[in-house]
Amino acid sequence: MSTPIDPTSTQAWGRLAARAADFTPDLRGWFDADPARVEKLTHTAADLHVDLSKNLADDALVSDLVALADEVGLAARRDAMLTGEHINVTEDRAVLHTALRLPSDASLEVDGQDVVSDVHEVLGRVYEFADQVRSGEWTGVTGKPVATVVNIGIGGSDLGPVMAYEALQPYVREGLECRFISNIDPTDAATTLAGLDPETTLFIVSSKTFGTLETLTNARLCRAWLLDGLEEAGAETGTAVAKHFVAVSTNLEKVAEFGIDPANAFGFWDWVGGRYSMDSAIGTSLAVAIGPDAFADLLEGMHAMDEHFRTAPLAENVPALMGLLNVWYTNFLDAHTHAVLPYSQLLHRFPAYLQQLTMESNGKSVTWAGNAVSTATGEVFWGEPGTNGQHAFYQLIHQGTRLVPADFIAFAEPAYPLKDGETDVHELFLANFFAQTQALAFGKTADEVRAEGTDEAVVPARVFSGNRPTTSIMAPALTPSVLGQLIALYEHITFTQGVVWGIDSFDQWGVELGKQLAQALTPAVGGDEEVAASQDASTQALVAYYRQHRS
Ligand code: F6P
Repeated sequence: MSTPIDPTSTQAWGRLAARAADFTPDLRGWFDADPARVEKLTHTAADLHVDLSKNLADDALVSDLVALADEVGLAARRDAMLTGEHINVTEDRAVLHTALRLPSDASLEVDGQDVVSDVHEVLGRVYEFADQVRSGEWTGVTGKPVATVVNIGIGGSDLGPVMAYEALQPYVREGLECRFISNIDPTDAATTLAGLDPETTLFIVSSKTFGTLETLTNARLCRAWLLDGLEEAGAETGTAVAKHFVAVSTNLEKVAEFGIDPANAFGFWDWVGGRYSMDSAIGTSLAVAIGPDAFADLLEGMHAMDEHFRTAPLAENVPALMGLLNVWYTNFLDAHTHAVLPYSQLLHRFPAYLQQLTMESNGKSVTWAGNAVSTATGEVFWGEPGTNGQHAFYQLIHQGTRLVPADFIAFAEPAYPLKDGETDVHELFLANFFAQTQALAFGKTADEVRAEGTDEAVVPARVFSGNRPTTSIMAPALTPSVLGQLIALYEHITFTQGVVWGIDSFDQWGVELGKQLAQALTPAVGGDEEVAASQDASTQALVAYYRQHRS
């Protein structure tokens, strides 16, 4: 694998640094001076309408960012990913989540294997299973159809399915509910299982490795809950696990060890990263909830965005441009965080999903060649749906001292078109979206504040500087296809940034140390004094506090 090009050594980086040195953003002036600005900086990617015009950039700056992408070889690395080269260097793996949504008549051979036929073979089994559950043909041990599907998984084996299940609520089959257990805090299993009927509950244990402590612990808790509940109901439990548990994993041997019939297991492959896996069999709970046709639409939407990323020139390539703008803000304007603000209640878990996607991918300090990176990497992604965020943290985005680039996302068609008297509530909602991006971009000057008759002493507090960057993303409606497009959009934004920084966006070694230490500490927490005594002073004191206060 080629050595990454140090971005700071490129000519484009030099030009960007020179711009940043005396950069005075002036969105009001730029809009006045260039009537074509919005047209030039608005792009279409599949069904997404993406307005970049309220970013702190002009044509010349965008050209420098595109030149940076050219100099670091973004297009070549994108193509290497799409054709299955082992770009996940530290794990020596291909990175092929895009193959999960290739149409069945495509072909892609990787490491001597036709991945498209493998993908569609598993998809076919997932769809068949989904149909059986949805139609009532799949029954529990007592012959009752499934009413609740509980997905047990964490990280990429949870966040994608739960985010999409929430986002696509209007597509969920009536009478069928999904719940999700992820945290090893026993509260999660206890409260999620509360009120469920074991006879009508089906568990999907989702784990790429099938070795994750949280997931296996929760799976055992659920198995015990199921068997106890069925026994209490006087049901025969001999075939209970086979009828009430299925698994999704790349490690089918471990699935069998757990006691789940391999016939009830759906596989995937090590070239799918956990945080890129919701469109593999990891999405089985979602496929059951929304049905195979809607799931296929989601995959089709992701593929449409993949095709845009693969074919659009970089100067019109939305994921590439958004990733490059993030580099501009992070490395030249010292932004540390990035807000994602969906004006859609249905997307309320989207920021949490993006946190794993972006931060587990790009929170790295060494390049894929093992050298220290030459510049800051990663941003803290965060957000909440509008308008809730407006009444909580927007103050800091409008008037604080920190630069917080923000993505606003909204849909023309409401999922629930409600009226308040004569007022279409969705219109009120969207007016807030448009108003916020307007206020952030153009602000309010002291003279404008004074013109409202404001007491002079209060004028400074009521001034809005403006020049706070936003990207506006709109689509006709939040359909499965559009959700797929949004997910793939952010996957490729993340990829673009990782390529500029020269990092392996597909490993996650940073999660390992804590896991190892937790395992080593468990005996101390349980009372092993020798293990406790070998810990640092703070940890010893914390364990002692726990031991004293636990009844
Ligand atoms: O610990 C981090 C991680 O490996 C994530 O990357 C992954 O999505 C999550 O754990 C769950 O892993 P698994 O699907 O193997 O249980």
